[in-house]
Amino acid sequence: MSDLSLDISQTVNGEPVRERVEARKTLVDFLREDLGLTGSHVGCEHGVCGACTVRVNGEIVRGCLMLAVQCDGATVETIEGLSDSGELADLQAAFEQRNALQCGYCTPGMLTAAQDLLKRGGVPSRDAIREHLSGNYCRCTGYHAIIDAVEAVAQARAGGNK
Ligand code: FES
Ligand code: FES
Repeated sequence: MSDLSLDISQTVNGEPVRERVEARKTLVDFLREDLGLTGSHVGCEHGVCGACTVRVNGEIVRGCLMLAVQCDGATVETIEGLSDSGELADLQAAFEQRNALQCGYCTPGMLTAAQDLLKRGGVPSRDAIREHLSGNYCRCTGYHAIIDAVEAVAQARAGGNK
């Protein structure tokens, strides 16, 4: 088996990063193991559960389905960066208030995916929220509280009532 490694550079949560990384290493493993950004979780490791969701060049991706070397030159944002910037503060508060998390394993990916929908603006229907989050699995909450939280934030951002 090849142990080829390559030098890559990325901007991760606003910070420039240069690392030598195994060519076969996934983006989420690189973020967690090499950069210590363990907020992105690893569940199924084959693109099904959404626990590894991160943003690359502004679009959400499965961190387990991309190689770190594919993101050479890219801008990567993880839950740590999105949280520190305050971009998700209202979503995080709504998740807490509405018990939209229990074990929290799905939560970083769920928040990142929800924000991807909400930053498009407007108030999506509950069906649209469900559809957008359908690639993010939660084993704990039964989803209703998550949909409630996302809907409430959409309404609040649009200036409506919670
Ligand atoms: S760990 Fe990537 S989708 Fe499940
Ligand atoms: S809160 Fe446990 S998996 Fe979603």
